[in-house]
Amino acid sequence: MITPKLALEDVTLQRPGRNAAGEFASSVILNRVTTSFPRGQITAVLGPSGAGKSSLLRLLNRLEDPASGQITLDGEDLKSLNIFTLRRRVGMVWQLPTLFPGTVVENITYGPRLRGITPARARSKAEELILMVGLEAGLLDRPADTLSIGQQQRVSLARTLANEPEVLLLDEPTSALDPGAAANILHLMVDLKSRLGLTLIFITHILEQARQVADQVLLLHHGEAIEAAPAGEFFNAPRDQRSRLFLAGQLEV
Ligand SMILES: Nc1ncnc2c1ncn2[C@@H]1O[C@H](COP(=O)(O)OP(=O)(O)O)[C@@H](O)[C@H]1O
Ligand SMILES: [Mg+2]
Repeated sequence: MITPKLALEDVTLQRPGRNAAGEFASSVILNRVTTSFPRGQITAVLGPSGAGKSSLLRLLNRLEDPASGQITLDGEDLKSLNIFTLRRRVGMVWQLPTLFPGTVVENITYGPRLRGITPARARSKAEELILMVGLEAGLLDRPADTLSIGQQQRVSLARTLANEPEVLLLDEPTSALDPGAAANILHLMVDLKSRLGLTLIFITHILEQARQVADQVLLLHHGEAIEAAPAGEFFNAPRDQRSRLFLAGQLEV
């Protein structure tokens, strides 16, 4: 069998909370999830609000750790990897752009500069990356906060790409964008997969977006992995009754 890029084996995530009576009780956020993310493909993670989609993504670059179970990257336990190396290899793009004060070029080269890249090399790397995300090099010296939200989201992506990740985690990256800017991000995702061979894991609540870009779909519901299937199978012939309900817009939160 081919080793998947990322795999979860019997993963349970709990968080402290309170029960209905207001007593301390830990709640199960992800319940014994076993699933995998194929190398070089786009997996769309779907499910109603509160299903555990964002929580699952947080486990994949160790913003949180599971209570039990194992997560592997190229077959290696995440916990055996240096955390900084892991977060370079598994990059994250959030719902809202997360830029620092400063210019676009300063933002894009933040990671490489921390690692001591020369200014000249940083500049040429930024020029390469800004074109890769479909923006013009003329924007490099603009203060980042003068760009539109759609442009800022692409700069966030360029800053993540500057770390030369192998995996991109995207948590509803288009939900703050207008339709045109959202379409650009979707095209870019497909482009990054084919040009750089990246593995992308993409949370969306818009089914049409998943149909458009996903190779594989993972459906979560109440912290459980309901179905993971090639996108064509999931959309045309889902195996699980809850998948059929979800596609009909009838799966309850
Ligand atoms: N910081 C938190 N502390 C405690 N519980 C949380 C926190 N964030 C989310 N949750 C709970 O975890 C569950 C899964 O949330 P989340 O992963 O954000 O779902 P989704 O992204 O699918 O909407 C929900 O029941 C939510 O209420
Ligand atoms: Mg979420």
